[in-house]
Amino acid sequence: MGNWLLILTICAAAVQSCVAVDRGNFKTCDQNAFCKRQRATQPGNSPWEILLDSLNSTISSLQVQVISSRSQARLQLQLIALADSTLHFELDEVNPIKLRYRAQESLSGSPQLSSLKITEQSSDSISLSFGGTGKAILLVKPFRLDVYDGDQLVISVNARGLLNFEHQRVRKSKLWEAMSTVAQTVGSVGSSLPGKAYSWVLQWLPWSSEAGRNEEPSSEPAEEEMKAEAETKHPDEKPVEEEEEPGLWEETFKSHVDSKPYGPTSVGVDISFPGSRHVYGIPEHADTFALKQTKNGDPYRLYNTDVFEYELYNPMALYGAVPFMMAKRQQGTVGIFWNNAAETYVDIEESSSGSVVSSLMNLVSGGGNEPHQQTHWFSESGIIDLYIMIGPTPKDVVRQYGSLTGKTPLPQRFALGYHQCRWNYNDQEDVHSVNKGFDLHDIPYDVLWLDIEHTDNKKYFTWDPVKFPDPLEMVHNLTANGRKLVTIVDPHMKRDSSYFFHEHCEQNDFYVKDKSGKIYEGWCWPGSASYPDFFNPAVRDYWASRFALDKYEGTSLDVYTWNDMNEPSVFNGPEVTMPKDCLHYGGYEHRDVHNMYGMMVVEGTIRGQLMRSDYKLRPFVLSRSFFAGSQRFGAVWTGDNIADWEHLAIAVPMLLSLSVSGIPFCGADVGGFFNNPNTELLTRWYQAGAFQPFFRGHAHLHTKRREPWLFDEQTNKIIKASIKKRYTYLPYWYTLFYEHEKTAVPPMRPLWMEYPQDGETFSMDNQYLLGDSILVHPVVRSGEQEVSVYFPGVDTLWYEIETFRVYEAPGYQTIPVAIEKIPIFQRGGTIVPKKERARRASSLMTKDPYTFIVTLDKQGKAQGRLYIDDGQSLEYQKGSYITLELNMEGHTLSSKVTNQGAFETPESIDKIVIVGLSRAPSSIVDNTGRILEYRYDATSQALVLRKPNFSVSNEWSVNLKM
Ligand SMILES: *[C@@H]1O[C@H](CO)[C@@H](O)[C@H](O)[C@H]1NC(C)=O
Ligand SMILES: *[C@@H]1O[C@H](CO)[C@@H](O)[C@H](O)[C@H]1NC(C)=O
Ligand SMILES: *[C@@H]1O[C@H](CO)[C@@H](O)[C@H](O)[C@H]1NC(C)=O
Repeated sequence: MGNWLLILTICAAAVQSCVAVDRGNFKTCDQNAFCKRQRATQPGNSPWEILLDSLNSTISSLQVQVISSRSQARLQLQLIALADSTLHFELDEVNPIKLRYRAQESLSGSPQLSSLKITEQSSDSISLSFGGTGKAILLVKPFRLDVYDGDQLVISVNARGLLNFEHQRVRKSKLWEAMSTVAQTVGSVGSSLPGKAYSWVLQWLPWSSEAGRNEEPSSEPAEEEMKAEAETKHPDEKPVEEEEEPGLWEETFKSHVDSKPYGPTSVGVDISFPGSRHVYGIPEHADTFALKQTKNGDPYRLYNTDVFEYELYNPMALYGAVPFMMAKRQQGTVGIFWNNAAETYVDIEESSSGSVVSSLMNLVSGGGNEPHQQTHWFSESGIIDLYIMIGPTPKDVVRQYGSLTGKTPLPQRFALGYHQCRWNYNDQEDVHSVNKGFDLHDIPYDVLWLDIEHTDNKKYFTWDPVKFPDPLEMVHNLTANGRKLVTIVDPHMKRDSSYFFHEHCEQNDFYVKDKSGKIYEGWCWPGSASYPDFFNPAVRDYWASRFALDKYEGTSLDVYTWNDMNEPSVFNGPEVTMPKDCLHYGGYEHRDVHNMYGMMVVEGTIRGQLMRSDYKLRPFVLSRSFFAGSQRFGAVWTGDNIADWEHLAIAVPMLLSLSVSGIPFCGADVGGFFNNPNTELLTRWYQAGAFQPFFRGHAHLHTKRREPWLFDEQTNKIIKASIKKRYTYLPYWYTLFYEHEKTAVPPMRPLWMEYPQDGETFSMDNQYLLGDSILVHPVVRSGEQEVSVYFPGVDTLWYEIETFRVYEAPGYQTIPVAIEKIPIFQRGGTIVPKKERARRASSLMTKDPYTFIVTLDKQGKAQGRLYIDDGQSLEYQKGSYITLELNMEGHTLSSKVTNQGAFETPESIDKIVIVGLSRAPSSIVDNTGRILEYRYDATSQALVLRKPNFSVSNEWSVNLKM
């Protein structure tokens, strides 16, 4: 432990000067046997073909076997039609030695079935129709699946013939041992063998050549020959060890040995997107939003790891993994979800025109010789569990994916406010004074965060008795004005016999085991630690129970949770995580479930918070690690970024990737976690962060303090203004998050989600939309004087949000960017709800009146929506909320209440700003005949209606007499 602490200290001290990740800690594809094997699969004629004799179908599914002409190995293919133009493609071994892991926790329930019809069948192919316009053709030899939207081929699986499904087998040396033992005990190998052992031994035989798939099929001894050979050999005579590819049965990385008791089990196949030149998704990578070609480097890697000071613009794995990809073509969008929780890689390669595959595609699609994206997916274990969504619009695809893996439930309103974090707020006096500092300097914030140092020696669910002797009083002080506290609760449990959590886990057999079945021990913040097996439901129940207020002392219902280090991070483990041969509940290896571990931790936490409030309050958890489906459990952030301009810039593509991949509640640490930002960088970061979904300032232990008031007056002023601006837009954010829960469309959007046919936007990741109304272009370079902003839409107007200066789309315009603000615009034709009274926290704004900003389009029209509820409870799920539809047309602005459940509120509208009016009206009257006062400014063409005093619960209208 002494040594370890020393290393930690040196490492932490080095933080200030560190510039890059220690790449040596993480594997490249070349250092990863299955990656090398899969990547070496050659395109061309696939050995796999469909066995038509085995075809079977039901009203919504089809089953058929696929056989390798090379190894005679058999796979079971299942195609299932799901609701909403989604096709489920599943490929598993027939009679596997050990059942392969199927990731189920990623799904939000059982997907709804739809009908699958066989429309035509011949000896060459089977034609199918599914879900409305979906069509698919299964080609028999070689095996391939082509998926069409109407007449257009949009996805092709195994068109390049890269399907490579490694069969489970018995290691040759083991087989000979088994054979010898059998020969010794029974005397000869034959049908007199006990049935089970016999079939176990023989099961692998026909497939044993899979490992050397480049060999000729005949180079492997046939089953009969092998049996004969075994019979004639003397039991004690060691068979000649055949050469095996290294890494099949054991693999070493640095000092770590992965024992691979089940041998090679990887699965891979190619998926092509005819017509699509852009693919997105597969977070988390610090790379551009439109994914890059990977031919000349490593593939994109999905393997949740704690990467210290990650590098930008490369395909290295980070903390989370969502194996979902969207492919965009001019006229449509498709999505695929590769539901596999093992280590996964994705290669991306643009087809070269004239290639075999490309001409094949053209033959099928009848299109021109257009290059398109071809991807190659492979995972170390599990099955091929592929969901194909055919859109056709980007919003259709996110809805289709959302109905599979779930959506983020509406968060409590406070969670959308500003969060103040640091490693660490040192003690309760520090907390007290930071809290007072925000009040004193009139800066709103909602949540103060406590990192690991608040605990008693890194024992989670406890408090340091010296630094935090009165946690409950501290919590009450902090939350009396409506603020919240978040405490960190990590999944590495200190191995300390006086720690109740550790004791419970030992007594109840709750920990993950090592390969030999002993409790796994790793090093993390507490020193020696073990890791609860969150795949065991009893463990999650126990974890959840620890959040009860009488169990987690010093907390109240205003204390929420941060699950960090849940990849899981293991300082002395291979690639800073858990060894793959560790064992989980159900007998699965860590290898099978790795990318899902973090999500399962959060599931337990969420349930704990729900239980402690008797399922009344919405939970809030922030997680660093995530998987497909994590969106159901709350927010994520992009981990330990660095205080430099490049990291500020990369936040946009990273958050867009998360947003389109189902995880909309995401953010990057404002200011940068490592190192000290200068005031310009910090200012620009607050300006950007205020317009990103999860808004939290955070800093490393060894950085200088950076509460906003510690800087010069101008910096303090601009940061304060940025945070306040965030608060004025909370009603809009809240409405967007409500709409996300309904539609799965993320609040933060790439431009092409609203303008799917505007090719200019397809690779754009320096600006984005919030909802369909607000366009944001953060400033991400030092000393920037002006930026080039792209305004999307045809005949569309965009109004700068403060001056209301108008810009016409489509096209680029140069916008000056003095330090006071970043370019933000509201689209003409929209109505955005705001609350403009400055308060200390969002909870103090609940009764404040609304301001509506109405920006007119060229026809003088505008529409908008507003969602209102109590901001914290789950009552909205029973209909206790109000929704308004606002509409301006023909000089009349009206509000229609579209839902009014049991929810009542005194909120009113006390200001309406109508922008884009070329002249002042002669008078304004409301629906009761009341004449309203207004002010018109000819320069900004803005009209301000003051104190119309409409209740949000009533229908009303105002008419402008022109
Ligand atoms: C088709 O499915 C039925 C019911 O599961 C089964 O009894 C039958 O053997 C299957 N046929 C084939 C050819 O696999
Ligand atoms: C709670 O607030 C009171 C009044 O400001 C202060 O005296 C006390 O020290 C605070 N307690 C803690 C634990 O922060
Ligand atoms: C606003 O309306 C409420 C009833 O809706 C009324 O009681 C109140 O006097 C009004 N205030 C003003 C300033 O008109």
